[in-house]
Amino acid sequence: MLMHLKNILQPEEVAEARSLLGDQAAWIDGRSSAGSQAQSRKNNEQLAQDSAGSRTLQELVRAALRRDPLFFSAALPRKIFNPLFNRYSGESNAYGSHVDGAVLHSRSTDEWVRSDVSCTLFLSDPASYDGGELVVQDAMGEQRIKLPAGDLVMYPGTRVHRVEPVTRGARLACFFWVESMVRSEEHRRLLFDLDMNLLALRQRHGETPETTALTGTYHNLLRLWANT
Ligand code: NI
Repeated sequence: MLMHLKNILQPEEVAEARSLLGDQAAWIDGRSSAGSQAQSRKNNEQLAQDSAGSRTLQELVRAALRRDPLFFSAALPRKIFNPLFNRYSGESNAYGSHVDGAVLHSRSTDEWVRSDVSCTLFLSDPASYDGGELVVQDAMGEQRIKLPAGDLVMYPGTRVHRVEPVTRGARLACFFWVESMVRSEEHRRLLFDLDMNLLALRQRHGETPETTALTGTYHNLLRLWANT
């Protein structure tokens, strides 16, 4: 399931993030964090994880994720990899086709995170750069994704993906992975659909015996499938 979540960050938070990700930020070669398969394909810059700016930005993103009910419903997060930040511009401007590692070590929380869900949070105004689309392969072909600043895309960690070369301007983004309480993508999808339709039913008819019962069904399925 590929999902577009709008306004995860408010405009003032996007502005703060951008100001912390200027030329003065602790940018390092993105290859330093890539596995051997991805290393030859990766050509971007990444914010040093031990920098003060990185810690401030990580907390900004974590707080934004905590307050978003749609993110919770879609991802059912058990662990969130410490958010990372990257920049594609100039000569360091692309990331060829690759798959992300299945388990990744999150440094700030010192834990292993299974990459059930991949997330990219766009931070640059799409009009300010050319190229830089996130291209995700699926059974239907390719999805090309370039979102407004503050918006997030979620896609299954199993997918081959790439970032197209940035030919003008700079593309700033945050990326991270989620280990879900519900490992199966199919189960997560069913729970999300049920949750969204229950929300719509409540908005239309208020609380009814049927919505109460179906909410019970939602939680019973979650209890069946969740690992905490
Ligand atoms: Ni990747």
